[in-house]
Amino acid sequence: RSLRLVGQHAQKQQCREMSSSIGGPQRKVTILGAAGGIGQPLGLLMKLNPLVTHLSLYDIGGTPGVAADLSHINTPAEVAGFAGDADLGKALEGSDIVIIPAGVPRKPGMTRDDLFNINAGIVKALATAIAQHCPEAIVNMISNPVNSTVPIAAEVFKKAGTYDPRKLFGVTTLDVVRARTFYAAKQGLNVKDVDVPVVGGHAGVTILPLFSQATPKKPLEGEKLDALTKRTQDGGTEVVKAKDGKGSATLSMAYAGALFAEACLKGLNGQKGIVECTYVQSSIIPELPFFSSKVRLGTNGVEEILGLGEINEYEQKALEALKGELSASIQKGVDFVHQSW
Ligand code: NAD
Ligand code: LMR
Repeated sequence: RSLRLVGQHAQKQQCREMSSSIGGPQRKVTILGAAGGIGQPLGLLMKLNPLVTHLSLYDIGGTPGVAADLSHINTPAEVAGFAGDADLGKALEGSDIVIIPAGVPRKPGMTRDDLFNINAGIVKALATAIAQHCPEAIVNMISNPVNSTVPIAAEVFKKAGTYDPRKLFGVTTLDVVRARTFYAAKQGLNVKDVDVPVVGGHAGVTILPLFSQATPKKPLEGEKLDALTKRTQDGGTEVVKAKDGKGSATLSMAYAGALFAEACLKGLNGQKGIVECTYVQSSIIPELPFFSSKVRLGTNGVEEILGLGEINEYEQKALEALKGELSASIQKGVDFVHQSW
């Protein structure tokens, strides 16, 4: 039923000890949910990434086909597909990074929290398997509601005794990608020069773009600022409506997921100065145990959580306004694990 890398783990260990033919370290990236709308284009982008030497694709079905397809691309990453529970351990073994886009997407009229009932159980099961088969891997959580699924994974890892807060990330890169695109268009700037930090969480008002820190700097206030903030917060809903029942963002998410995974790989490989906005265990807002902000990435995942920097009154108000919802979503994830154990 599946393509397999025979003795993959042992081979990988051996390879680590030898110098790689392409010069860099051996890095295995595993995607859970790899046959889905995000999983397939994300698999493609990871197959194209020269930092990836092994690409492991897992889903409940469909992955042997996706793996066979991607494996014909003439880039160095070796591809293996795994399908079904019995293969999950093999898919995970020896992973450096596990990316999780497994679970159901929204339909029009739903909030991300409406996905909780289905996705919480999926994430809990996958996190349990990660704790068992690759407890040292970096985890990039894409499955929604991210505000709750990251705390769910943290609680599972704590119970298993494998939790390392430096290695668990909620992927909020799509919010940054959107803020850059929308800011560049509104301000008449070349999008390739633009950066905008986005902090908070990943749902509605919990998404807080810090346009006062956007670069290049150009004045932005009043209705224009309101409109840009709201469009960034509602970017996901804009795509859900446009897809009209056929899911949520997949291609832009695959791009964002690939950007973030590459940043993690660079950090792991010892490259300096890698900073990304991401949702992690944090103490910068004391009442919010998980929070997205700029984070410096290194060989062990989070190297340093950077502060919010100077934020203006508009952003300070928005920060106060998001605390209630984000705090409740975090607690919901924690409670789910405790109640269902
Ligand atoms: P999709 O339905 O197209 O794909 C999901 C895949 O997950 C399917 O192939 C399904 O078989 C698989 N899956 C389900 N249960 C699984 C399990 N137990 N183990 C492994 N795989 C399993 O959905 P999609 O559009 O790819 O979206 C996936 C998730 O990503 C959704 O929850 C969505 O809300 C979320 N998402 C997050 C962001 C973000 O910015 N973080 C952006 C877009 C989508
Ligand atoms: C997004 O921001 O596009 C994702 O979180 C998917 C969604 O449901 O909006």
